[in-house]
Amino acid sequence: MVMSEVFEHLHPAYREYACLADHERIEWIRADRWINHRRAEAALGKLEDLLTYPKRDRMPCLLLFGDVGMGKTKIIRKFVRDHPAVFNEGTGVTTMPVVAFQMPTQPDEGDFYDELLTALGVPQRRAGTVRGARNLCRRLLGEMNARVLVIDEVHAMLAGTYRQQRIFLNTLRFLTNDLRIPLVCAGTDEARMALLTDQQLADRFDALELAHWRDDQAFRDLLASLAAILPLRQRSSLGSASVSRRVLSMTDGITVRVFRLIETVAIAAIRSGREMIDEESFTAEDLVLPLVSMTVKAQRGMGRKSSVAV
Ligand SMILES: Nc1ncnc2c1ncn2[C@@H]1O[C@H](COP(=O)(O)OP(=O)(O)O)[C@@H](O)[C@H]1O
Ligand SMILES: [Mg+2]
Repeated sequence: MVMSEVFEHLHPAYREYACLADHERIEWIRADRWINHRRAEAALGKLEDLLTYPKRDRMPCLLLFGDVGMGKTKIIRKFVRDHPAVFNEGTGVTTMPVVAFQMPTQPDEGDFYDELLTALGVPQRRAGTVRGARNLCRRLLGEMNARVLVIDEVHAMLAGTYRQQRIFLNTLRFLTNDLRIPLVCAGTDEARMALLTDQQLADRFDALELAHWRDDQAFRDLLASLAAILPLRQRSSLGSASVSRRVLSMTDGITVRVFRLIETVAIAAIRSGREMIDEESFTAEDLVLPLVSMTVKAQRGMGRKSSVAV
């Protein structure tokens, strides 16, 4: 590669990667990274709003809901990275503006507070009572100046018995009333339905849906921004209506599938030397679909010959 070569089809900050050797570019594509897109940005904007909300009796809460693989956890992680905990050497106090943790797989109150304590940096303590754990959480959240509490995978509450679910909803209600910090819950649509069964919580939570991608400008923008960062040496045509429709039909508009599919065709483009993605990339005979969940759909949708009975 000539160093002076300018990859004008790429975002300036990403041009240098196109100069890397094939195996390095493939590694780059496979690496875990945050990809900004309009809908994620909108969700992050909502989260930022909560962070600066003045304390008042009824704090607003947010439910981020959508199917598995739509990018909820990714957004939460980004939000946490944007607002990291800070340890003050002078005072010896840690402030943690965003406290995020995952629901335990069963909605057990003790396990719930254990997860919260772990997020707060306190090692597991299953010895004490639930009340003790609750009080400790409340004290630490205050001391560490927590301003938003984020609970991911809230649909795990549905794995419990009816009674456990009621207790869990009470716990959420207690947290919103007692702590006076906004609560953010992330989960599937079932989680939303479950929250709605508690009138007080239903009145408190704003719901933001991460719906499947549709054939619209936001989706075409997402494809265009992927085309601008992937280290391919030729200009891709990812922005066209036909590519957009094809990607949607192969992925059902689920974020994780879209990203995996584009990564797969990008790597194939490096290996074959085509160095760009276009409509043909998605029909290549030797295209190996990245996720099991996509196989059936693609065979049906693309009318591929298949020996598999589905
Ligand atoms: N904004 C993003 N940037 C990069 N990768 C993403 C993004 N959103 C989703 N993904 C990909 O999709 C996968 C599933 O996202 P995740 O946040 O775990 O979904 P959910 O929590 O909604 O089930 C991630 O592991 C990642 O590979
Ligand atoms: Mg998740």
